[in-house]
Amino acid sequence: MKNLIFSGIQPTGALHLGNYLGAIKQWVDLQNEHESIFCIVDYHAMTVAYDAKKLPERISELALDLLACGIDPEKAILFVQSQVPEHTELGWIFNTITPIAILSRMTQYKDKSEQNKQNINAGLFTYPVLQAADVLLYKANLVPVGEDQVQHVELMRVIARKFNKAFGELFPEPKPLLTEQARVMSLSDPTKKMSKSLGEKHYIALSDSPDVIKRKVRSAVTDTHAGSKSPGVENLFAILEALGGEDLVKELKSQHKKGSLQYADLKDVAANTIISHLKPIRERRTELEKEREHVGEILIQGAKRAQKIAQQTMSEVREKIGVR
Ligand code: TYM
Repeated sequence: MKNLIFSGIQPTGALHLGNYLGAIKQWVDLQNEHESIFCIVDYHAMTVAYDAKKLPERISELALDLLACGIDPEKAILFVQSQVPEHTELGWIFNTITPIAILSRMTQYKDKSEQNKQNINAGLFTYPVLQAADVLLYKANLVPVGEDQVQHVELMRVIARKFNKAFGELFPEPKPLLTEQARVMSLSDPTKKMSKSLGEKHYIALSDSPDVIKRKVRSAVTDTHAGSKSPGVENLFAILEALGGEDLVKELKSQHKKGSLQYADLKDVAANTIISHLKPIRERRTELEKEREHVGEILIQGAKRAQKIAQQTMSEVREKIGVR
């Protein structure tokens, strides 16, 4: 079977190292081998409080980031979810076959409703149903994501199966594709995953300057937890490894074992590796910023290409479910 890749990302602010190592880095590799579709999921971003005036800018900033990381519109389709309304149409249909019991077990829903007690809306609850529609609309079978999204991909499989059983075979059951570094942890609380919602000192944005990166890595938590390896040190090792510093990591790990590793040295090596890896991305971004109109055009063309596929699937879906 031919592979089709689909993945998405929310326009919720600066791209961080977790997004990059968990997802985007492999998107860039996958687009060379497979038909790939990448989506900026603005409807998903509305499930928590957001500033409507800032949303257009966030979308175009994210598009710039993705292109700077190496997403190539000649190879992959890059588009914005709300420009292809078939996503919400299929999402609605999937709502009617998705058990509430499964949705209430979703970890992301539980976490986000814990963090946003004043705004536990129905969209937050059915978020993974729209996510299933995103992927199945293109009949994609592989979904490159970080570990936190695996549960949502499993739900897609359930929804595909339920639909196929009720209305006849139509959708593949997609599988998650994980990188080695599918869970990058926060720098200042390495028991939690790196995320923007935790606050500035927890993540490294791809757009952070070398000085900011140095400062954030230097203040990363590395204390040893009694009886176990320090999760902060493990996290720095894992980041280094993911950025291609295997040899360095081997050397540093052996020093660590002997007890001779200074955490300040580890942090310097980690900061420098991150800075040099992000340098070409920052440079490409500066170039792309000069051609914002062109970036807008890429998204419009991407939406056109995506919608062609989406419309075809929707006509098959409508036929099967008995609406014309
Ligand atoms: P989002 O926008 O939160 O994150 C985008 C991608 O980055 C990964 N990621 C991480 N990976 C490793 N370590 C981390 N600390 C880390 N933080 C984030 C996420 O796993 C994700 O792959 N629900 C999705 C967006 C979405 C989607 C889709 C994904 C909507 N529709 C369809 C795939 C297919 C999300 O919230 O991603």
